[in-house]
Order: sequence, then structure tokens, then C-alpha cells
Amino acid sequence: MPKNQSNTQKSDEFMQGLGANERALLERIPVLFLRKLAAAMVRAKMRVQFTGWLQYMLPVPLILVLFITAGMTRLLGVMQVGNGFAFFGTLLLMVFIFDIFTVKFRQRLPEGLPKRNDDLGIFDLMRARRSCRSFQTRKLTPDDYKELMEYVQLHSELAMIGKAPVRFEYIAAPLTVWPTVNASEFLVAIVPNEYNRLAVIDVGRSLQKIVMDATRMGLGTCWIGPGADHVSIKQHLGDHFNPEEDHIICVCAVGYKSAYIPLFLRIFNSQMSRRLPLSSLFFTGSDFKEPLNVDAYPFNRFGRN
Ligand SMILES: Cc1cc2nc3c(=O)[nH]c(=O)nc-3n(C[C@H](O)[C@H](O)[C@H](O)COP(=O)(O)O)c2cc1C
Repeated sequence: MPKNQSNTQKSDEFMQGLGANERALLERIPVLFLRKLAAAMVRAKMRVQFTGWLQYMLPVPLILVLFITAGMTRLLGVMQVGNGFAFFGTLLLMVFIFDIFTVKFRQRLPEGLPKRNDDLGIFDLMRARRSCRSFQTRKLTPDDYKELMEYVQLHSELAMIGKAPVRFEYIAAPLTVWPTVNASEFLVAIVPNEYNRLAVIDVGRSLQKIVMDATRMGLGTCWIGPGADHVSIKQHLGDHFNPEEDHIICVCAVGYKSAYIPLFLRIFNSQMSRRLPLSSLFFTGSDFKEPLNVDAYPFNRFGRN
């Protein structure tokens, strides 16, 4: 067997079970040893993130650093600076305990149902919607469940671009996902096992329409691709998943948005939900260098789109 081929096979072995995004990143690392090391680190990260604790534990190193710095500066006699570090350490520790208590252990005051967004048109719905990464502990009401399933059916029957069947399975179970917390209802997008680019596009189109209708209902949604543990999804799908014929594209968590959001997720949301200005999205040429002048004719006709 040629040397290159055997190397590729070995590298395939240690990357098995990793997602397409992780593989693509790892394949950029030229040295095999470093690639293996990075793959081991990615695996370790996945194991920790799928324990469901990482969302809460991330402030811990910072809390430790603040207390250690407070202790050291006090030892050096700079008491006021030490007290400052101790104050911020205590503050962060309290937030950490509050998050564990209210989100992880769900010890919280009950939250109300959100208001519907029936008054918003589609563009305002798109603007208003943000991925929801912390859900209330209550299930969808029977009325909301029924309405949502009607939209799922409607948009699954929509004329598809491709020919492959696309379906959405509903699961009511706390699937292992990252970094969303307390999601307990999901739609799982499934296409035929054999890779088909149009089927992936069809999932995107249909699910986006479902997500928009869910937003109109006042529901929170979060698409989860790389952050979904497929082992846990398949377990819960049971007979509704055929490993020979089916392929999971992504899941979408659906439910009522919670006001209890762990500190790490607040920061994560603010970073992830930043929307690019039009000048970073639309260009005059296929080299994506010259931003399109969206204020000039004919593009200004599209207004706030
Ligand atoms: C195909 C797809 C996969 C995604 N996977 C994840 C994921 O694994 N975890 C997550 O928290 N968000 C995931 N998202 C949500 C995106 O991070 C989010 O839509 C994006 O940052 C824009 O933020 P917004 O939805 O608040 O506007 C995914 C979105 C898409 C479309």
C-alpha cells in the first residue's frame, strides 16, 4: 500500500466519530502527530461538553484566578487591590452558584408563557428572532404542540428543490446538546443516508419556515448541528430511525424561552447572534472583495431586506 494512502487511513481512524467541521479543521494541521493530538483534545472537549456541565463550569478558572490574585496582592500588602479582586471573585462565585441552582437543578420561580408575535410580518420576525439557548422547564401546551405540528406537516409537504424525501421527527426528551440548556422538545431533520446536496438545502428551507412559524407563535428555537450528540438522538428515535437508510442533518430545539440563562450562555449568545452588516454579506463580484452598494439602484429597491 502506498505510504500516503496508509497515512490517510490511519488519520481517518483517529478522526472517526468527529463531525465534518472538526475534521475539516483538523485536516488543515500538516503534521500527523499534532493532528492526532488536536483530535484527542477535540474528543476530550466533546466528552466534557456533552456531560451537560461545561456551560456552568467555564467561570470556575476565572473565579480561582481572581481569588488567588486577591490572596497574593493582600500578601504583598496591597490590601485595597486585593479586596477588589476578592469582590469580583465573590460576585462571580455567586453568579456561578445561582446558575447551577436555577438552571442545572431547575430550582426556580415558575415563568409565564411568552406572548405571540402574530402582529409581526416575516421581516420583523426574522429581525426579532434570536437562537434560544435556555428553555423553560415546562413542555409545550397541547394547543402549541398541535399548531407546531401543523406547520411541520405543512412545510414538510412543501415543493422541494431535490427529489429526496425530507422528514422531521419530533422527540420529547432531553437530548444531549451543546450548549443549549433545558431543551426537552426537538425536531430532528432526517434525509436519506446517501449524500445529496439538494436534500440538505431542502432541510434548510423547510426548517427555516417552521422556525419562522414557531417564532410567530412566540416559541424559542435553536438549530443544533455540530452541538448535537447523535448517539443520544438515535437512542430516542428508536424505531423512527433506520441506520441503513436515514441520515440526521441537524436538530432544532423548540420550547419556551427562559429568563434564567447561565453566564457563559449570555456571553455565547451575544457573540453568536451578532449579525454582519450588508457590506460584509453582498459583493459586486464573485471574488467577494468589493461590497455591493445596497443604497444604489437597483439594489436599493430591496429596502430593508
Ligand atoms: C445548520 C445550523 C447548525 C447550527 N448548530 C448549532 C449548534 O450546534 N449549537 C448552537 O448553539 N447553535 C447552532 N446553530 C445556531 C447558530 O449558531 C445561530 O443561528 C447563529 O449564530 C445566528 O444566531 P441567531 O440564530 O441568534 O440569529 C446552528 C445554526 C444552523 C443554521
